[in-house]
Amino acid sequence: MQPQPLLVCGNWKMHTDRAGARALAQAVRDALARPALAGAAGYEAVVFPPFPFLADVVEVLGEGEIGCGAQCCHWAERGAYTGAVSAPMVASTGCGWVLVGHSERRRLFGERDEEVGKQLRAALAAGLRPILCVGETLEEREAGRTHEVVATQLRFGLEGVSAQQTGAVVIAYEPVWAIGTGRSATVAQAKAVHDAIRALLPGEAAAGMRVLYGGSVKPDNAYELLACPGIDGVLVGGASLDADAFAAIAEHAVSAHRRKSESAPASPPPVARADAPEPGA
Ligand code: PGA
Repeated sequence: MQPQPLLVCGNWKMHTDRAGARALAQAVRDALARPALAGAAGYEAVVFPPFPFLADVVEVLGEGEIGCGAQCCHWAERGAYTGAVSAPMVASTGCGWVLVGHSERRRLFGERDEEVGKQLRAALAAGLRPILCVGETLEEREAGRTHEVVATQLRFGLEGVSAQQTGAVVIAYEPVWAIGTGRSATVAQAKAVHDAIRALLPGEAAAGMRVLYGGSVKPDNAYELLACPGIDGVLVGGASLDADAFAAIAEHAVSAHRRKSESAPASPPPVARADAPEPGA
């Protein structure tokens, strides 16, 4: 079976202004139009600009292949929630994606596991593809609690999600200690948690669910992470603000996907139908 395209996501966080967001979107569009990347089957790119610029970025990216999403959303459809933005509002800008449960939302804005689950369900109801972010703090890792923390975040985050819906959900493993620190997890550290996540995902649908790595991904460490079996893409913060760096990571995704495709077991031969005529008959 051929591996799915590797997902390369850029989280712009609270950066850019309106003109800067439009310029960055244009630069990303131009950079991903390079011959090595235009129409390449091995990757899919999505950017996550701040709320006020979503519609601008969707417009600049145009009808092409690059997706756009919000960095979070509220769980209610509408109502008296001053300052909040709902999933249907995000969808109405033309975006198809949303991050939920990013560690900065959990840590700095007090979003709890139950709320993250509600946001994810709201995103699906609005037709958005949620990326559920999970990951442990350094303290939790050092206390040997990584798997327990990630398992709890997954359980709440995916609560009430049907088997059919899981196909629309992506998981991002982002160790909190690796975000914005320049200290990425090693491939072995990432793989160990990715394997644990995969084992916890519900049912058969889990096989088709992409699990990304995030935390200090840069052009110089992207290939080894993307080429690792079980890592299905990357969520990039700082480096995604530089269109050339983002494109370089996408190029690594194309190479890593090629390598994974070469080592993927060949598809089983087509099953001969009993009523099919013999060749040459
Ligand atoms: P970073 O951020 O690449 O700057 O570490 C990753 C993220 O927060 O998604």
